[in-house]
Formats: sequence, C-alpha cells, structure tokens
Amino acid sequence: MDEARLNDFMGKLVNDMGGAAMLANVIVGEELGLYRAMADSQPTTPEVLAEKTGCNPRLVREWLSAHAASGYMEHADGQFRLPEEQALALAIEDSPVYIAGGIGVVASFFHDKDKLVSAMRGNGALAWGDHHPCMFSGTERFFRPGYKAHLIAEWLPALDGVVAKLEAGAKVADIGCGHGASTVIMAQAFPDSRFVGFDYHAPSVTVATQRAEEGGVGNRARFFQGTAKSFPGDDYDLVCYFDCLHDMGDPVGAAKHAYESLKPDGTVLLVEPFANDSLDENINPVGRLFYAASTFICTPNSLSQEVGLGLGAQAGEARLRQVFTEAGFSSFRRATETPFNLILEARK
Ligand SMILES: C[S@@+](CC[C@H](N)C(=O)[O-])C[C@H]1O[C@@H](n2cnc3c(N)ncnc32)[C@H](O)[C@@H]1O
Repeated sequence: MDEARLNDFMGKLVNDMGGAAMLANVIVGEELGLYRAMADSQPTTPEVLAEKTGCNPRLVREWLSAHAASGYMEHADGQFRLPEEQALALAIEDSPVYIAGGIGVVASFFHDKDKLVSAMRGNGALAWGDHHPCMFSGTERFFRPGYKAHLIAEWLPALDGVVAKLEAGAKVADIGCGHGASTVIMAQAFPDSRFVGFDYHAPSVTVATQRAEEGGVGNRARFFQGTAKSFPGDDYDLVCYFDCLHDMGDPVGAAKHAYESLKPDGTVLLVEPFANDSLDENINPVGRLFYAASTFICTPNSLSQEVGLGLGAQAGEARLRQVFTEAGFSSFRRATETPFNLILEARK
C-alpha cells in the first residue's frame, strides 16, 4: 500500500463528493434566481441577495460560502461576487456555455438509483420514459445552448449542399427529437423549409409542440409520436439524429429506415457525443461525464428496446461508420466537431 497514492485518491474522492454536493446547490441557486440576481458581477452581501430574491439570509450566506469554497465565486470583506465567466455558465441562460439548466440530468441519476440497481441485477433495461422528469427537461437544457451556438452557424454548413436546400425549401425529419430544441432552432432559421420531429416518448412530443408554438414556428415544425424504425415519409432531404442514435436499441435498423426515407440525394446529419474510438482514448473529463451518463441513461435505454445493441454514448466514429455502412450508406464522414459533439454526415 502506497500511502501517498492513497492520499491522492482520497483527495480526488473528497473533491468529487464536494462537486456532487455543489451540483445540488447549483440546481437550488438556479431555481431561486440567485445566480441571475448576481449576473452583473457586482459584489453583494448575503443580506442584500436574500432581500433581492426573497430568500432566507442565513441560508443564502451558507450557499454563498459553499460557492466561495468551490471557486465558483469570489469573496472579500463579507461580500461575494460572481465573476463574468462564471455568470456565463450559471446566470445567463442565452450564453453558449450555460450549464446550470442541464444539471437536472445528474439529479435524475440519484432519483433513479433504485431503478438502475434493478436493471443491473436484471436484463439491463431502463427505458427513457421511466426516468425522473428532471431528466427530460435537463436533457433539453443541457443540449440547447450547444445547438443554438453551433447548429446553424457551423454544423449545417459543414454538410455538403444542405444549407442551399434548406434555404430553397427542404423537408426535414428530426428523429428522437425529445423536446424539439434542434427542430425549433432549424425551423426558425429556415422559414421556407418544413420540419417534422418524431420521438417514441409521448410526453416529450407534447412539450416539443409547445416549444414550437412558443418559438413562433408551430406551423412549420410539427411533432408526432413515432419510432426511429417506423416514422412515415420517403422524400426527406435531411434526416437528423441529435444525441439519440446511440440510445436506440437498433441503430442499424434505424439507419436503414432513414435510408428508405431519404430522397436519392438526401443527407443524414448524425450528431453524437464526442468520443474517440477506444476507452483508452476516452479517459478524459468529457469521456468521464458521458460514460457515467451512459450507464444511467443511454445504454439501459438501448437494452430496453428490440435488438438492444447497447452502443453507449462513447461509441466513436469508427463504430458509428459500421452502423451506417451496414445500413447501406455508401458515404460517411466527420463533417466537424466540438469538444462535446461529433457531427457526422451519411449519404446514400
Ligand atoms: C438524449 S435524448 C435527445 C433528445 C433530443 N434529440 C435532444 O437533443 O435534446 C434521446 C431521445 O431519443 C428518444 N428515443 C430513444 N429511442 C428511440 C426510438 N427507438 N425511436 C424514437 N425515439 C427514440 C428518447 O425518447 C429521447 O427523447
């Protein structure tokens, strides 16, 4: 036993426990508007912040102290300040790095712990719809900032000829659309195109329809309950999967159905969590987050469906290429990437 290594590991675990405890504090701060009240990055006292937000001053002091101890806030002379960089992540919902809203996904792991224990002892299945509701809104809020920042500006332009078609008026299917964040963003950007979102989870379809109305595109972005292997239509210019193909039981069957649904010159846009091709290459903070989430969400969801391939959230480009080659596509390439996403293009 090497005592120094033990101490290092204990230090890492204490740090991780503090991180997990802080995420619960972040969820509370977001819900109560505490970060939004500090978004101007001006120093404030617990009493002033409590008054502004209608919260208990003693608890606000403790919450602020936890943030100072975590390096999330600065502290001097009894005053606390949320620096501009932290405000972008925690206070400003429109920012491309706003992460506070997505932490509901991590909260769901704790709510759903008993269900995962049963799945682990059984056939491995835990379906999307059986998670705590904070997972559905957390997923929407985790992904939306990235889609807003990159989808129109970078991802669609990285596909061969797709933007020109969308500008002229194209027909697009967004499969596994969840709450429709990607569908609504595309519909807002391309008023001459028509968008249809499909998801097998009925409550998500209801929320997506509401989001399209709120976003002013209810007439051009429609949502229906449907599976990736059965959605209707055979004349799509673009079929999209945003962070969902690996969640499916039969990704090859889904890709084959996309092949049948596309026009001859159509395109598949496959957005997947960023991953390299092997575990050894995914030993990094992004791989850690996605493997941990995949244990609770993506892999057991896949095992709950027919075939149950269980690709996992860290499948990587080479494995995903196999899926599309097996489905009959002749071309598959990485169009672009971000630290969190692989953006892949498949053509017939
Ligand atoms: C991680 S979420 C992504 C949701 C959305 N695309 C987004 O980016 O916010 C995965 C979605 O895939 C859906 N899904 C999983 N398996 C499916 C299947 N076989 N057919 C259709 N939808 C499916 C789930 O219901 C869920 O909404």
